[in-house]
Amino acid sequence: MNRAPEPAERLLFQEAATLAASAYAPYSGFAVGAVVVGPSGRSHHGVNVESASYPAGLCAERAALAAMVVFGERALRYVAVAAADGRDCLPCGLCLQALAEFGDPAIVARLGGEVRVVLLRDLLTTPFARGAGEAGR
Ligand code: THU
Repeated sequence: MNRAPEPAERLLFQEAATLAASAYAPYSGFAVGAVVVGPSGRSHHGVNVESASYPAGLCAERAALAAMVVFGERALRYVAVAAADGRDCLPCGLCLQALAEFGDPAIVARLGGEVRVVLLRDLLTTPFARGAGEAGR
């Protein structure tokens, strides 16, 4: 799936873009905001948080995911992600795996210069799961 956003989805993207102003990204200069939505319909917010020890940095999507889990939700409906500079930005592979833990959300992001809605499963076809692949052995 790859489609244009509904008005409510476009608003989620705008919310993520606004959040990006709060990112802590002094090393890359690439500020990102993310909003995740679970069954309650409530928005949970995240931004990227970088570190002088580069690999210790956290992406906006996983920060938002953690906020959702703290709130008590365990299922994902939407993930909106936006870079402050307006460039294309889809969740990285590590974030896709982390998000896949909680379902197959619609991802609202800029892609090819336009805001689009895609499914997580189309970006990560085979998330890791313990035991997956054993059936054929
Ligand atoms: N980043 C995110 O927060 N989300 C993405 O979807 C892509 C990348 C962050 C990680 C790092 O802080 C910066 O953007 C540059 O990669």
